[in-house]
Amino acid sequence: MNRVHIKTYGCQMNERDSEAVAAMLRARGYRIVESEDDCDVLLLNTCSVRDAAEQKAIGKAGYALSRKRHSPDFVLGILGCMAQNRGAELLDRLPDVDLIVGTQKFHRVPDYLDNLRAARDSGVPLGEAIVDTAEEAGSQNTIRDHVEGPERKVCAFVSIQQGCNMDCAFCIVPTTRGDERSRPMDDIVRECEEVVSRGAREVTLLGQIVTSYGRRDYPHTGGVSPFVQLLERVHAIPGLERIRFTSPHPRGFRQDLADAFGRLPKLGEHVHLPVQSGSDRILRAMKRPYTRDRYLEIVASLRAARPSLAFSTDIIVGFPGETDEDFEDTRRLCEAVDYDMAYIFKYSVRTGTPAATMPGQVPAEVREERNRVLLEELGRGSLRRSQALVGTVQEVLVEGADKTGERFMGRTRGNRVTVLEAAPRLVGALVPVEVTRASVSTLYGSLVAAGLQSPLGAASL
Ligand code: SAH
Ligand code: F3S
Repeated sequence: MNRVHIKTYGCQMNERDSEAVAAMLRARGYRIVESEDDCDVLLLNTCSVRDAAEQKAIGKAGYALSRKRHSPDFVLGILGCMAQNRGAELLDRLPDVDLIVGTQKFHRVPDYLDNLRAARDSGVPLGEAIVDTAEEAGSQNTIRDHVEGPERKVCAFVSIQQGCNMDCAFCIVPTTRGDERSRPMDDIVRECEEVVSRGAREVTLLGQIVTSYGRRDYPHTGGVSPFVQLLERVHAIPGLERIRFTSPHPRGFRQDLADAFGRLPKLGEHVHLPVQSGSDRILRAMKRPYTRDRYLEIVASLRAARPSLAFSTDIIVGFPGETDEDFEDTRRLCEAVDYDMAYIFKYSVRTGTPAATMPGQVPAEVREERNRVLLEELGRGSLRRSQALVGTVQEVLVEGADKTGERFMGRTRGNRVTVLEAAPRLVGALVPVEVTRASVSTLYGSLVAAGLQSPLGAASL
């Protein structure tokens, strides 16, 4: 009973948590396997942000449990956000689940599996489910330093914070992830140094609202927020070439952060800046503390600091009360910003959030139609912005083999996926690539000898 498969739903935070659980299990002698059909333990690390994500995991769990009929020792665990959100109530739908572990208890998973294994080895049939969704003080410090995994990664993800204290009216994250808690800056810097010493060239700092990092723990110094102080310290790590972060909140973009894009060349030329809506009326109803004009001002201040900056965003269509005019405002805002990419979400009712009981719920067909219109327009914009890069030379960080395994892939400073012919020794290198072809989300190109215009200068090649 030691072959474990972990299936992850949802965001990069979940990916990161799954990696941490995998590392802890490996350290305990479990084997992490690729096949979800051929494993002794299946762990689903779940997402609750939209109903569809929960339904998918519940469907998968129901199907997996049918395996118990012929292999009664098979263990199914549900971890993460849906475990936190629904807890023991999940047992009504899925009575045979063995393990339900919330977002602050990932580090307990190895013990719980050990317990289940010990019970099985002593001949006791697996009995009542273990359910642990309690809060745990300091849990932001238990998810870390997990990098003993077999593969060396060019791009590493480092968690800097957990939870969120904003009260966006639509969002379940404050419930599933709990209070905002920041990891100590020294710990984060140490982990970044470690991943770099193991071969990482790019670090993405992760949290639900990274721009609020450390606001209760560290003072502003000389007008510089704790988040920007952290960026400065990570920027100073030798051998690290690029820094990214996700997700920030518009209200965290003050001048100190815009200035950072001007003076810290390792900051990637891409900002994911969730807007949610382009209508002031809807932003107010969503309890997003900025206006459309303020958002556009932030975009302008960032572009002033770094003209080549690319933006992506999150948008919700069909929030309660959204009219055609509100939607039109969102559409026009997208045109004004000229995003490289956007995640568009149809509003999904999350029980327990303020928006769930707001009047003016928008019919599913309308949400569907607005989603379609916006997707199409944003797709056209992405393609235009991609194609504008054809003929230019971009600095690409080579990450590894592409999907087909025949070529290599990497990303530009602006975070565009780029497929190229390269050699294995170039994995982890920054190379100049001339873009020869572009699709909506991918660039294709070939290595060139020189001609790269990089703010880091030729020395970084
Ligand atoms: N701070 C986190 C937010 C997590 S939720 C982050 O940016 O990663 C990610 C996105 O899901 C949000 O930005 C929002 O656009 C979308 N979302 C959240 N709740 C939603 C809901 N009830 N319905 C539809 N989309 C939602
Ligand atoms: Fe959710 Fe708003 Fe926080 S979208 S994660 S409550 S900033």
